[in-house]
Amino acid sequence: MSKIQYKPGNMLYPLPAVMVSCRDQEGKDNILTIAWTGTICSDPPMVYISVRPERYSYHILKETGEFVINLTTKELTYATDYCGVRSGRQTDKWADMHLTRQPSKVVQAPAIAESPVNIECRVTEVIPLGSHDMFLAEVVSVSVDDRYIDENNKFQLQKANPMVYSHGEYYDLKELLGTFGYSVKKKK
Ligand SMILES: Cc1cc2nc3c(=O)[nH]c(=O)nc-3n(C[C@H](O)[C@H](O)[C@H](O)COP(=O)(O)O)c2cc1C
Repeated sequence: MSKIQYKPGNMLYPLPAVMVSCRDQEGKDNILTIAWTGTICSDPPMVYISVRPERYSYHILKETGEFVINLTTKELTYATDYCGVRSGRQTDKWADMHLTRQPSKVVQAPAIAESPVNIECRVTEVIPLGSHDMFLAEVVSVSVDDRYIDENNKFQLQKANPMVYSHGEYYDLKELLGTFGYSVKKKK
């Protein structure tokens, strides 16, 4: 087996590509696509998003300290890409992509109704890292589409066709390979 050496870079893939919604202090809403995101703590529940200061949304996130992470699906892939290549400086991405504002439970920023999971976040710390600033945030509310809750009250996210981002390409999830802990489960 031989391996090719790449220069150090971002190779941690696949990742979720999420749509982050925010509302400025004048009440103008925007959406931007974020792939540099992840869960960083279970208790308290915390996530991060890393955002370049030149993004239009950057000042909104910095000033309001609030945003919503909206998970994306196969059906939302086109809108996810669009919200990542057009700026709220020039256009209204909600109108362009026919996305519906859903009032949030805790934060001012609206969620995206078409997304199966809306994670409302409040920023606790902004860490400048270089190209991106990392917004650490506490999850203050989560809404899930009840169409994906089964008869046992289990949330079946895969039924919403989640989308992932890998090396500049968007994919859906094809096949269930196992479940948490299956490698050590006793066979019946
Ligand atoms: C798949 C994808 C992932 C992206 N991830 C990030 C990211 O993690 N951080 C970031 O600052 N910009 C990211 N972008 C770029 C922004 O979404 C893009 O610059 C967007 O136009 C910013 O919108 P705004 O100017 O309305 O804030 C991504 C774009 C795409 C298409």
